[in-house]
Amino acid sequence: MEDKNNRMTKYPGNELKYLQKVLSAESWSATGGSWNNILEREFAKKLGVKYAVAMNSGTATLHAALEAVGVGPGDEVISPAFTVFMDTSATLHANAVPVYADIDPATWNIDPKDVARKITPKTKAIIAVSIYGLAPDLDPIMELASKNGLAVIEDNAQSMLNTYKGRMVGTIGHMASYSFENTKHLSCGEGGMIITDNEAYAETARKIGGHGFKNLRAEEGRIRLNQEVFQNPHYKRHDTLGWNYRLSEFNAAIVLAQLERVEELVKMRQEVARLFLEAASSCDYLIPQHVPAESTHSYFTFGALYDGLERIGVSWEEFRRMYVEMGGDGFYGAWSVPYLEPIMVERKYVKRCPDIYRDIKYGEGLCPVAEDVQLKVMQFKANYRSLELAKQKASVLERLIVKLKNR
Ligand SMILES: Cc1ncc(COP(=O)(O)O)c(C=O)c1O
Repeated sequence: MEDKNNRMTKYPGNELKYLQKVLSAESWSATGGSWNNILEREFAKKLGVKYAVAMNSGTATLHAALEAVGVGPGDEVISPAFTVFMDTSATLHANAVPVYADIDPATWNIDPKDVARKITPKTKAIIAVSIYGLAPDLDPIMELASKNGLAVIEDNAQSMLNTYKGRMVGTIGHMASYSFENTKHLSCGEGGMIITDNEAYAETARKIGGHGFKNLRAEEGRIRLNQEVFQNPHYKRHDTLGWNYRLSEFNAAIVLAQLERVEELVKMRQEVARLFLEAASSCDYLIPQHVPAESTHSYFTFGALYDGLERIGVSWEEFRRMYVEMGGDGFYGAWSVPYLEPIMVERKYVKRCPDIYRDIKYGEGLCPVAEDVQLKVMQFKANYRSLELAKQKASVLERLIVKLKNR
């Protein structure tokens, strides 16, 4: 919905209405509330799975999912070298060892052939990230997992309602993780969701995120005990070591309001991406992320590999400076490959558990394709609230390309 100045009104959905209801409700916590419950039910229905467990971030979800599938101290978890650091930090929080697989040079997603090379007797799980909203090649990954008895956790923090070979992404791995952080398709500031068809995984994840309360079940996070039992001094509450990863009722209500129009939110990003794709098509040095015919893309961001230094003699930084000067939005480069972040290079993780990490080292050259792509990618914003504004920004890109051609 846009107002007369073509600005998308900030809350075209039920956000404010639902927030008011939460304010006047008795419980603001998932333990007693119903908004988490409704959100989980609706999210599971939308994705087509049996269970959904809401949490307070898309990192909490990754950590809880890893532990739910049985990842423990010293186990190895394979994740792509081209992704955010949180796949690594979630792995370390489970006292497991991050192992990096290189990526496909065209889709920038985890390369199943390299996953196969990285599997050892210690491997327990694979985190398959849908980078920028595009699924990795999940069939061979699931095949490897089944052959080697591994769990696959889809990290769909950047994706929503995208498909792979006609199937809904999120329903293919054993569990899938979502983020509701500020920039995501659905956002309440901070939040996350796990989905799965596996009851035991859902129950364990919920306990891990809910202080390990023994009466928590896969279906919901309310603590629904007879008060006489729960208030009795002899009652024992905890049978699992957990954290508090619960989502507040306020956040759940906001995400629910956005879930009601999720198709529209995804479509908007796809339309923005189409504008930038068109703009980039007028040159040969901006190479968009390749979308295989078998997949649809939900465009958390529009990513293009910049090859301008070699082809037209303009550096990444110079191109960005010119784009911003002409009125474009300052786009981000991609995050460093996780194993070259200071915490990994300086081996600060060893202190966490020297027995496990003493001999683990990472360094440059481990995943050469990811290291090369990471330095070249430009992440153009796809979450404009107004298509008009996105058109203006895409036309800046087009004009910059023409200007550089006519130099
Ligand atoms: C691929 C991916 N995984 C995990 C996360 C972590 O999500 P959160 O910020 O909600 O903890 C993000 C967030 O940026 C992400 O992009």
